[in-house]
Amino acid sequence: MLDRPMPTPAAPLLDPFALAKALSGYHFIGGGYVPGRNGKNFAVVNPATGQQVAEAAEGDAADVEAAVQNAAKAQKEWAKLPARKRGALVHQCAALLKEHQEELAKLIALETGKALRTESRVEAGVVADIFEFFGGLGSELKGESVPFAPNVLSVTVREPLGVVGAIIPWNVPMLLMALKVAPALVAGNSVVVKSAEEAPLAVLRICELMNRILPPGVFNMLSGFGPECGAPLVSHPLVRKVTFTGSVETGKIVARAAAEKLVPVTLELGGKSPMIVFADCDFEKTVAGALTSMRFTRQGQSCTAASRIYVERPIFDRFVTAMKDAVNKMVMGDPLDEKTDIGTIVSEGQLQKVKAFIEEGTKTPGATAHVCSAMPSDPALKKGLFIQPVIFTGLTKESRLVREEIFGPVTVIAPFDDPESVLAEANDSEYGLAASLWTNNLKVGLDLAHRLEAGLVQINQNLVVQANLSYGGVKSSGLGKEASLEAMLEHFTHKKTIMVNMA
Ligand code: NAI
Ligand code: MG
Repeated sequence: MLDRPMPTPAAPLLDPFALAKALSGYHFIGGGYVPGRNGKNFAVVNPATGQQVAEAAEGDAADVEAAVQNAAKAQKEWAKLPARKRGALVHQCAALLKEHQEELAKLIALETGKALRTESRVEAGVVADIFEFFGGLGSELKGESVPFAPNVLSVTVREPLGVVGAIIPWNVPMLLMALKVAPALVAGNSVVVKSAEEAPLAVLRICELMNRILPPGVFNMLSGFGPECGAPLVSHPLVRKVTFTGSVETGKIVARAAAEKLVPVTLELGGKSPMIVFADCDFEKTVAGALTSMRFTRQGQSCTAASRIYVERPIFDRFVTAMKDAVNKMVMGDPLDEKTDIGTIVSEGQLQKVKAFIEEGTKTPGATAHVCSAMPSDPALKKGLFIQPVIFTGLTKESRLVREEIFGPVTVIAPFDDPESVLAEANDSEYGLAASLWTNNLKVGLDLAHRLEAGLVQINQNLVVQANLSYGGVKSSGLGKEASLEAMLEHFTHKKTIMVNMA
């Protein structure tokens, strides 16, 4: 329990601007807010207006050292608690996070530009759900008895790994953090999280709220940049497990650093997820499904975004038209406004990256850019990082827009003629995170589901990650799984064998 004065109230603070200010300049280490040791801060900007709303502590190796030492000390006692007791505490955290759902939703909308109604509130709800789910799994941390010899008792037990270092991105920071922190804690590890520089606030508040329930030092939060704060966390000798979500490029750097110490690493990296639409699909449901699959309400900033849509030729033109009409109805605007469907891109850097892809696609001979929806007209938002969703047709499979992760509201639609050719195109990718198939012919659908190279394949739906369903990619999309019981057992514990000779 927290025993020192807090800059933030225990009760939900529904003014995200006030909460952002109160959270300014802190890490959360050893059960309390602490300023960075070097005294440096960086700006946290509201991407809808360009205005600074807070400062975040710019962590470095000294902060990492403090956090990891605290975590290592706390972990020893934490691991001694019965697993169900740890789970019960994590479950209590879920209940507290539910009480703060609206507060967290507004705060994440403010710092990331994700619309409150369509995205931020949903994320805040799922976060609580993830902690609730893992909180119930304490008693699943069990071992086996092994039939070795009649008078030798041979058993396996699940032990925690120690301090877990978690690096998270900015697109769904609360949820992606929960997928790491919840199983790590229930399994008896302690955790140091390095938040994304674009979104340090909501995860910091969650860390504080959970520290009102957890013993101090078990869950710590650092803010800062990748090379200065993330890298020393990954390579700290006391960090015995690394879990990372972000780009392929950074994932490889993190994996190399983990390999130097020979500690296990879980990587959830990017995607270029195909959506395959057959002519016999339920048309209206599939058009609506394309909008959610593409995560347009998150400006396409999703690793599972359906950024390649293949449509069977007989319904191709009709599908493109229907999709354009549907995206045109989506309202872009202030992320905190209930009317808004689509908010902003997270940062100027991401905006430029997305614009470069759009420009390249627009200049490609034979390609058509269908620019949808409308920029917001409110003058208060004129500096906002808004971008109109674009649907491309006429691009070939050599295009960078078809091959690379754009991480923006840009999708490419192409026609296909038969299941085998579309399967080959779908699998012709560096990535293998997710895929969806839309058809009423479940014989064809199931056959392709088995042959698609992806960690998650859905037929006639395309949901985001769900508690208890293993989630994680193949190929360059990552290593290992998250969100499930197996993920907790395989990635946050090791199996020790104990043998007793009773002869
Ligand atoms: P990134 O992979 O560079 O950043 C993710 C996290 O890694 C951040 O917390 C960052 O501070 C940290 N990091 C960066 N360098 C590090 C290092 N050397 N050691 C340890 N940690 C380090 O992603 P970024 O720059 O935000 O976005 C670039 C692209 O990555 C996006 O355009 C998108 O394509 C992809 N991406 C994929 C995500 C996913 O969910 N799979 C999430 C975010 C970005
Ligand atoms: Mg980067």
